[in-house]
Amino acid sequence: LWSFYLEVVLYLIILYCGTAPLNTRIVGGDNAPAGSWPWQVSLHLSSHVCGGTLISDQWVMTAAHCILINSPSAWTLYLGRETQSGPNVNEVSRTLSQIIIHPDYNNTLFNNDIALMRLSSPVSFTNFIRPVCLQTGRPLYGILCPDWIKLAGTPEICFLLYC
Ligand SMILES: *[C@@H]1O[C@H](CO)[C@@H](O)[C@H](O)[C@H]1NC(C)=O
Repeated sequence: LWSFYLEVVLYLIILYCGTAPLNTRIVGGDNAPAGSWPWQVSLHLSSHVCGGTLISDQWVMTAAHCILINSPSAWTLYLGRETQSGPNVNEVSRTLSQIIIHPDYNNTLFNNDIALMRLSSPVSFTNFIRPVCLQTGRPLYGILCPDWIKLAGTPEICFLLYC
């Protein structure tokens, strides 16, 4: 059942990732219309702290330096949000069940500045909420998936993330 669920999710990710049906790509510096960047996630402690990127229906990728508090319950994530100061009719929010910071993150040099946040429950993809595409090629030189990413979830997600 788990692998069937995974196949469906991966199919949906491949179908929807990287597409923004409402993005008309207007050049010239106006506010982005709703739905322009549907993988954009707003990470909140008591207010907006950082952006994140939706990479599946339940994982958000961000920078390790954004994890000001390494406690899942401290965070609320807003997906489909258009503005930090107005109504957001297309938005959904999620709490977190897990945060994974790269174990070799160096907060002086900012090496390995990457972290993953697991949503408390999956989101449905809409015109305003959908994942970015990650490279799908196989790793070069037969490099194995790093353990820290394996810990993040499934081998398949790891595969997508790592490559
Ligand atoms: C970060 O890198 C610097 C320079 O190599 C090193 O001195 C420091 O111990 C590292 N910090 C951590 C937390 O690993």
